[in-house]
Amino acid sequence: MQHLSTLLNRFAEPETLKMTKLGRELRARGVDVIDLSLGEPDFDTPQHIKDAAKKAIDDNWSHYPPVPGYPDLREAICAKLKRDNQLEYKPENIVVSTGAKQSLANTILAIVDEGDEVIIPTPYWVTYSELVKIARGKVVEAHTTMESGFKIKPDQLESLITSRTRLFLFSSPCNPSGAVYSKEELKDLAEVFLKYQDILVISDEIYEYINFVGKHESIAQFEGLKDRVIIVNGLSKGFAMTGWRLGYIAASTEVAKACEKLQGQFTSGANSITQKAAVVALTTDLKPSRKMTEEFTRRKKITMDLVGQIPGLKCFEPEGAFYIFPDVSFYFGTSDGQTLINNSADFSMYLLNTAHVTSVMGDAFGEPNCVRFSFANSAVNIQKAWARIKHALAKLS
Ligand SMILES: Cc1ncc(COP(=O)(O)O)c(C=O)c1O
Repeated sequence: MQHLSTLLNRFAEPETLKMTKLGRELRARGVDVIDLSLGEPDFDTPQHIKDAAKKAIDDNWSHYPPVPGYPDLREAICAKLKRDNQLEYKPENIVVSTGAKQSLANTILAIVDEGDEVIIPTPYWVTYSELVKIARGKVVEAHTTMESGFKIKPDQLESLITSRTRLFLFSSPCNPSGAVYSKEELKDLAEVFLKYQDILVISDEIYEYINFVGKHESIAQFEGLKDRVIIVNGLSKGFAMTGWRLGYIAASTEVAKACEKLQGQFTSGANSITQKAAVVALTTDLKPSRKMTEEFTRRKKITMDLVGQIPGLKCFEPEGAFYIFPDVSFYFGTSDGQTLINNSADFSMYLLNTAHVTSVMGDAFGEPNCVRFSFANSAVNIQKAWARIKHALAKLS
């Protein structure tokens, strides 16, 4: 056996990708699988962004870009933060990376030392906890409930803070719950952070444009906190550009420089053609993003109506992103005569094998009673998938 590093034992591969892989394998065997496990818009990238990329190729933007990103892109990100979030940043505060996932990896590795505690409200995106483990930090889960709208409350937050707390990490809109924090809710959390000057906050805002309840709010807006907040955002979700791999942070110059140093060794920076296309995406109007969100709103409604017809699925109506995250524990301990469902992993596998629909078990998000289903799929597929799920669940008793 070849010797591999112990680092590999510290973290798991993303459950989201694992499920998608299983679905693909089943599809390759000729089964009609409907994918509700994936976290990406099913739309194509808008034409004007594709045209900008083609032009960038013809204009020979083929050399290594500066590690933190081209100056015009960093300027465009500052302009976007001013336009959409009324936040003032300079290009030196911005680091462009190969997807928001790399932005998160850079930031966590730049901040977290061995034994440092990182508070993460559940349910959280699968990658957060694993990146903290890679950095040898300690994940402190802050359990939230459907009844509380899957949001952490200030007193709960404060009760988890210790002398080792280094970072608070959350997303709004949230993957997987769809929770969106209001300005007042963020202000209440900000007031706690203002009492603890050593704690930094990563605010993952990648689903900013996919918001069903109103204006997006960032925790960076509060007086005295901005320098300790690292905004993570990117083009994957709002512009249907998952494969282009472009994310960024807006942070203090200290954190930005630390991320640039790490990135200089890891990747040398994000793809040059993608960066040039990103300038156009961020500086033209948001009509295509708004249209996508309108369509997600329609599909959310279809999904909620269909889920409402299935006994035992307790579901929170998402305020943003494109997932529903129902509590499925009603089905634990049931069987179709062959397969016993004991947990959310069994539930997900049962739906894959019986209904041929992929989903992601809640354990991966720190909520073992729930399962995540995407509605970033066509209305026809959503209807077909939920009819199959209803039929499969009706066999369980
Ligand atoms: C909450 C959250 N943050 C970050 C990412 C990563 O996005 P990117 O494609 O830009 O790496 C995802 C993707 O699923 C996500 O759901």
